[in-house]
Amino acid sequence: MRLANATIYSYFRFQHKSLSCTELFMTALTTEPLAPLLDRLFAEADAASSPGMASLSHDELERLLRSKTEYLDLYGRLKDLWLPVSRETGTMLYMLARSCGAKSIVEFGTSFGISTLHLAAALRDNGGGRVITSEFEPSKIVRARQNLADGGLIDLVEIREGDALETLSSDLPETIDLLLLDGAKSLYREVLDLVEDRLRPGALVVADNADACLDYCPDYLARVRSTASGYISVPFADDVELSMRMS
Ligand SMILES: C[S@@+](CC[C@H](N)C(=O)[O-])C[C@H]1O[C@@H](n2cnc3c(N)ncnc32)[C@H](O)[C@@H]1O
Repeated sequence: MRLANATIYSYFRFQHKSLSCTELFMTALTTEPLAPLLDRLFAEADAASSPGMASLSHDELERLLRSKTEYLDLYGRLKDLWLPVSRETGTMLYMLARSCGAKSIVEFGTSFGISTLHLAAALRDNGGGRVITSEFEPSKIVRARQNLADGGLIDLVEIREGDALETLSSDLPETIDLLLLDGAKSLYREVLDLVEDRLRPGALVVADNADACLDYCPDYLARVRSTASGYISVPFADDVELSMRMS
């Protein structure tokens, strides 16, 4: 077995004789320009503060997080906050999109583009494709576009501007390989309804902040956790719900 592996490795090296081992395993996520850009963006996200958040009482915040009608007011007030996926979730998104060979991805909630960068990096390494992502806050869209350009990935991304309940209600790809839900928690169920008939069998749905979903989107969790609805679903890493469309 060792001999066989060594032989295969020598053959591979021979075919790529000008490449070092590191170069053989290069990914868009772990190399320039994206890797140092993500370091800077996560640091900037950590340092961000929000006057809008400071002016909200706990009760008011709870009420707005549950509301299916006042989400634009809430996220408008929080426009200075990045609210990105964690570094671990970002890496996991890249891995999931790579391992399912994703070509077609839809995202609810772009913010400044941190999760979008991970998803688009996976598409680059899969050989191409498109992320359709959605954000209503204009100042965030400007910066997200810049971040995607800086990461060399803007050609793979379409940002739909406005309320996702409208922008994701038409012109979706025939099939979708992966859906990321990371906008207003109270709308996860409604956004899933918009794209569900395009999810291919085996498509993955990642819902960030699923721990908060117990409070803010119980209707979403009830749907994906019911096998009768056509999903297999597990919560993990404390805050992510990973679901797979079965048919
Ligand atoms: C948690 S942040 C997204 C973070 C982003 N996925 C990342 O990892 O960097 C949620 C974003 O969704 C946006 N959003 C919330 N509800 C929306 C809606 N109905 N339509 C479009 N964007 C929405 C908010 O403005 C906010 O920027």
